[in-house]
Amino acid sequence: MVSRYHEVYEGWKRDPEGFWAEAAGAIDWVSPPKTIFDASAGVYGRWFPDATCNTCHNAVDRHVENGRADQPALVYDSPVTGSKKSFTYAELKIEVEALAAVLVDQGVAKGDRVILYMPMVPEAVFAMLACARIGAVHSVVFGGFAARELATRIDDSTPKLIVSASCGIEPGRVVAYKPLLDGAIDIARHKPQSCIVLQRDQQRCDLMAGRDIDYAEAVGAAKTAGRTVPCVTVAATDPLYVLYTSGTTGQPKGVVRDNGGHMVMLAWTMWNEFGVKPGEVFWAASDVGWVVGHSYIVYAPLLHGCTTILFEGKPVGTPDAGTFWRVIAEHGVVALFTAPTAFRAIKGQDPKGEFVGRYDLSRFRTLFLAGERADPETIKWAENQLKVPVIDHWWQTETGAPISQNPIGLGQLPVKYGSPAVPMPGYEMHVVDDAGHEVARGTLGNVVVKLPLPPGALPTLWHADDRFRDAYLAEFPGYYKTADAGFIDDDGYLFIMARTDDIINVAGHRLSTGGMEEVLAEHPDVAECAVIGIADTMKGQVPCGFVVLNAGVTRDPAELEREVVALVRDRIGPVAAFKTVVPVKRLPKTRSGKILRGTMQKIADHEEWKMPATIDDPAILEEIAEALKTKGLG
Ligand code: COA
Ligand code: AMP
Repeated sequence: MVSRYHEVYEGWKRDPEGFWAEAAGAIDWVSPPKTIFDASAGVYGRWFPDATCNTCHNAVDRHVENGRADQPALVYDSPVTGSKKSFTYAELKIEVEALAAVLVDQGVAKGDRVILYMPMVPEAVFAMLACARIGAVHSVVFGGFAARELATRIDDSTPKLIVSASCGIEPGRVVAYKPLLDGAIDIARHKPQSCIVLQRDQQRCDLMAGRDIDYAEAVGAAKTAGRTVPCVTVAATDPLYVLYTSGTTGQPKGVVRDNGGHMVMLAWTMWNEFGVKPGEVFWAASDVGWVVGHSYIVYAPLLHGCTTILFEGKPVGTPDAGTFWRVIAEHGVVALFTAPTAFRAIKGQDPKGEFVGRYDLSRFRTLFLAGERADPETIKWAENQLKVPVIDHWWQTETGAPISQNPIGLGQLPVKYGSPAVPMPGYEMHVVDDAGHEVARGTLGNVVVKLPLPPGALPTLWHADDRFRDAYLAEFPGYYKTADAGFIDDDGYLFIMARTDDIINVAGHRLSTGGMEEVLAEHPDVAECAVIGIADTMKGQVPCGFVVLNAGVTRDPAELEREVVALVRDRIGPVAAFKTVVPVKRLPKTRSGKILRGTMQKIADHEEWKMPATIDDPAILEEIAEALKTKGLG
């Protein structure tokens, strides 16, 4: 099949508003947009500024009304608890409406924020949709974050209520959520009025009288009473959710997603980019705490009338490296979306793909990889094992949907290993040098997007327009800075090579080394520190901390490492995967005092490096190399 990509992309470029007006036809509006884009509204303009709608209606109710009532909407498959459960669209509506009634009883109304600190259970999805139903703004916090990270998000989003659970389950350990929740509320300046807590059998928790509500009791009572809650009409530009993501400091950025543009973009991607039809089974093996979970576990598949899989498990160890194939075969999955790191983990345990042959994968059509650079070896291994197209695509929490992809529905383009292919409609890509001048094709530079961003991409940061301008728009006027470095080749394919800021990507998780440095600096014996990401065969990158101790302090390195590692785990959470501390006498710096993190990383990764011309004292780099060797890393 000849790809329609070029024709469609050119069509968008010729008439962006016409393009998105047509895409908006996939959505049920309360009042449809008359104006498609208002360049004078918001920070850089707003999409569908005069339309009104409800996201829950589009994801749930309209399917119940239009013949999908008995189709499974959500399939929960949890190898870590040994349970499976399926909810039809009609059943999903009952669950969502009952929880929405409980939220309304607690005084939650349109525009109020609700934090969801939840493991991968169906109630997390119900809670997102219940908020959407009543026009409340949800903010999901990933379960692998510690109390302090949760507290930061509580203070920034000032939620009226928090929905949580007694515990999450990681292979080999139960993670008690309640102490983290209580700890976070203690630390936070803002106090939510109430918490709805789901008691899980694996570990129940005490509920605080006057504050905590038992999820099952409250929702059960709402169901028994046959409570109904209508979908509240919101402006297309009203926020659906705020999702915090790592910035360059310990203060995460609250990425805002609106209702209207988000629905239009996600609905458009499901067929055109992912090649999935309504009624088919789509699986994003991510977590609802990440943007991939928001877009492709919950909203996009449900908006499109698909069956979505909620998987509470890992690619390996739950119970083995065949879990993914078991889920695909058992539930008839046509497309899987996951991070390359998951495939590296599977390949590490089952290099010959012996598990693959044990399952019937005949309905499986496409594998999508994103979240970090997909290394060609991993892609080729997956292609060989699965005999389906393996599609690398690139996006960010900020965009909410792919910036570039090989669009399966429009017709697959030739694959270039190491490239997430071509820009999607909405994205006019440029690569510029630090002064903002366009560089030649094939030359590495800053990857930027010509404004405006398309529907669904962030209009701003939560209550922080200035921070949004400073972080993304100021450096290259008229463009959005992706903070990724890369190049565009002669065929228009993008290659995304690295971040230009201090973000690292650990097992597909986006983490701030600056945030980790802030924690290391809290240790009483640490005078100075630097955290870099070093290459890891499974996780892509892992953090490594260099510490200079206060004058006169001598410490057993192993003991110091234990303390610092525990501090990061306590302050940021286990997801930081921070395990390595290298004590050094001094840090290499430029004459103006900037720490040479890039050069340190090259040394650690055995890459070629040049002595920076501006270095203050070249001998320090030798010391770093020596310290890494002592640690078995250099
Ligand atoms: N709640 C509590 N702790 C969590 C958690 C959660 N939701 N998720 C991860 N953690 C913990 C892990 O248990 C681990 O703890 P440990 O240090 O005690 O072992 C730590 O955080 C680091 O987790 P991770 O980096 O995920 O490593 P892992 O060894 O547990 O698993 C992979 C490795 C590759 C299997 C796993 O990272 C994976 O499936 N990655 C896919 C990434 C992904 O879905 N990304 C989303 C974008 S598509
Ligand atoms: P997140 O906001 O967590 O989705 O992380 C976004 C960042 O992950 C991007 O800015 C990239 O640095 C990286 N990333 C995501 N997908 C890809 C990809 N397909 N190729 C290269 N890098 C990617």
